[in-house]
Amino acid sequence: MSDAYVSLKNLTLAYGKTVVVPDLNLDVRKGELIALLGPSGCGKTTAMRSIAGLMAPKSGTISIDGVDITRTPANKRGIGLVFQSYALFPHLSVFENVAFGLRLKKLPKAKIASMVEQGLQTVGLAHLSDRKPEDMSGGQQQRLSLARSLVMEPKVLLLDEPLSNLDARLRLEMRNELQRLQRDTGITMIFVTHDQAEALALADRIVLMKDGIVEQLGTPDELYNAPNSKFAADFFGFENIFEIEGSEIVGRTGRLTVLIDAKEGYLAWRPSAITIGSGPHQGTISSMAFAGELREYIIEAPLGQIKVTTPSSTPPFDIGSPIAFDLAIDKARHLSKNGEET
Ligand SMILES: Nc1ncnc2c1ncn2[C@@H]1O[C@H](COP(=O)(O)OP(=O)(O)OP(=O)(O)O)[C@@H](O)[C@H]1O
Ligand SMILES: [Mg+2]
Repeated sequence: MSDAYVSLKNLTLAYGKTVVVPDLNLDVRKGELIALLGPSGCGKTTAMRSIAGLMAPKSGTISIDGVDITRTPANKRGIGLVFQSYALFPHLSVFENVAFGLRLKKLPKAKIASMVEQGLQTVGLAHLSDRKPEDMSGGQQQRLSLARSLVMEPKVLLLDEPLSNLDARLRLEMRNELQRLQRDTGITMIFVTHDQAEALALADRIVLMKDGIVEQLGTPDELYNAPNSKFAADFFGFENIFEIEGSEIVGRTGRLTVLIDAKEGYLAWRPSAITIGSGPHQGTISSMAFAGELREYIIEAPLGQIKVTTPSSTPPFDIGSPIAFDLAIDKARHLSKNGEET
């Protein structure tokens, strides 16, 4: 891609002899916010560590703005890091933690003071500038870590689960703050999370990883509405996935003929896309959980377990009672065996 700003080419990343990322290719555009998403252990932090220069790739190249930085030391890359472990200086005040990097740059005192104040304002910590990190909550420490990186005006900011210690309300606030920052400053950001809602809300594009491999790369809309593999579909909430064989859905003990041309692959439904209370199929409700806006049911049917949600404003169905349901083909996503949507 010609407009790549951060470019990873054929990166192989390993710990000793254990390769965890075999061949990573990724182009990030200038000013873009990319979310790296995937289950625990899939290699997100490892990929970030290599971009930051904290681990050398076995092979492949990393470049920023056309310059190969694969062998450039971490502190010369112009990359800011906000990682899972904050690595704050415990003996320094909040102010001094943020000022630290600026002092190394030998900027004038007044300039440093105003940049630090601005940075602390941004993350809502201006009132705590005399505190020590150890006297702060986990969420406050994360925000301090963010401020410390931001004031350095990095070319690229790498954020590894930076919001994981925040409560729900702060998380949302910081999410919006990060988006605003990215728009205002134009910093290119790579953001690791395993929270799909966070990735969907924040990212320009999402990289979905599995076992060190990019499963799918696309806009939040594409990943949410058009996942192109069984893994991606499952990850983005198509929790009912059934294999097709010769135009039949194959279940645990039963088969269901479907009016679809496809002879193989999978059909996937979101729990909200399945109608219960009416329809041509029969099952038994085995459990129900109240989840605020929704009720979540598990139906035991000849096909296997089916997860269905209904608005909690509608009357509940009884556990143990037989129930009719409908798997409407027009609400299913068809996934072919090799991962392409048809
Ligand atoms: N220092 C290390 N030495 C050996 N193996 C490691 C090391 N760090 C990570 N790994 C392994 O590499 C794989 C990828 O780990 P990584 O930390 O990149 O995952 P992750 O996607 O960031 O997961 P999480 O969401 O849990 O943070 C895992 O199997 C992990 O056990
Ligand atoms: Mg990690």
